[in-house]
Amino acid sequence: MEGKTVYSAVQPTGSLTIGNYVGAIRNWVELQSGYNCFFAIADLHAITVRQDPAELRRRTVELAALYLACGIDPAQCALYVQSHVPAHAELAWVLNTVTYVGEASRMTQFKDKSAKHADNINMGLMDYPVLMAADILLYRTDLVPVGADQKQHVELARDLALRFNNRYGETFTVPEPLIGRNTAKISSLQDPSKKMSKSDENPNASVFLSDDRDAILRKFKRAVTDSDNCVRASSEKPGITNLLNIYCAFAGVTLEEAERTFDGKGYGEFKLAVGETVADRLAPVQAEQRRILADKAYLSETLAAGAERASRAAGRTLGKVFRKVGFYRGE
Ligand code: TRP
Repeated sequence: MEGKTVYSAVQPTGSLTIGNYVGAIRNWVELQSGYNCFFAIADLHAITVRQDPAELRRRTVELAALYLACGIDPAQCALYVQSHVPAHAELAWVLNTVTYVGEASRMTQFKDKSAKHADNINMGLMDYPVLMAADILLYRTDLVPVGADQKQHVELARDLALRFNNRYGETFTVPEPLIGRNTAKISSLQDPSKKMSKSDENPNASVFLSDDRDAILRKFKRAVTDSDNCVRASSEKPGITNLLNIYCAFAGVTLEEAERTFDGKGYGEFKLAVGETVADRLAPVQAEQRRILADKAYLSETLAAGAERASRAAGRTLGKVFRKVGFYRGE
C-alpha cells in the first residue's frame, strides 16, 4: 500500500448530500494517510454544462473549505483546483488524439447528459471522460476512488493508457477504480429505491451537508417508512433499512448494535434519533467550514500550495508525454 498514488476529484456543482459525505469525502480522509493522494476540485469538468460564473467561483471555494473542514489535511495530500494546473488541459489534448470518436460517444454519461442538456451538447461534454483520463494519468495514479457511475470513465482511462503505451512506449501507469468498500449506499428519504441525489426535485428527499439542524430533523421526520412499527433492516423495509444505514454511518455502530438500541422503540423516536445523530455530527464540520471560509488568505495559500505540488508531479509526466509524441523541446 505504501507508495501507491490515489487520485480523485469532485465537481463544484450542486450541494453535497450526506450520501456524498459517507461515500466520498470520508473515504478520501481515510485514504490520505496511507497513500500519496491528489484531490482536485474539477472546475474544468463543471463548465461542460452551463454554470453561472459567480456561483461556480463560490462553490469552488466552499467545496475546498468543506473538504478541509472534513479532515482533508493539506500537509498529507495535494488539495487543489483543477484549472490551476494547466497540465490537465494539455494532456487532455494529447489524449484526444488516441481517443476514438466512437468510444467517446458511447459513454453512458455522455448519452445521459446529452439527453438531459439537448440544447447544449458541446464538445466539452463529449471530451469529459478524456479530461478525466488526463487527470488520472498525469499523476501515475494506481487507484481512483469513485462512485459506480464513474467506473466506465476509469475504464476508458485504462484503455487510453494502454493504447498510448503501446503506440509510444511505456509512459503511463494503468489505474484501477476503487469502488467504495464498506460504504453503505444511501437512498432518497422519499423513495428508498433511488439513490440520494444532489439534484433530486423533492426537497425532502436529500439531506445536504449545508442543512441546518431544523431542516435535518424535519427531513428525517418526513422520511418514508412502512406500515409495521419495528426498527429492523430487511429487504421488505427499504425505508427503515436506509435510515438504519444512515444511523450506522453517522453513529459509527454496526447494524446489530443499532437494531438493539432501537429494539421496542417506535418509528417516531427512531427517526428523531437518526436526525439528531446526523445533525450532531455535521454541526462541527459546518462550523469549521465557516471558519475556513472566513480566512480567505489561508484558503488561497493552501490551494496555491496544493496546485504547486500537483504541478510538479504533473509536469514530469507531461514532459515525458511531449517527448514521446515528438514535440520539439529544444536541444
Ligand atoms: N467525474 C467525476 C464525478 O463527477 C469527477 C472527476 C473529475 C473525477 N476528474 C476525476 C473523479 C478524476 C475521479 C478521477 O464524480
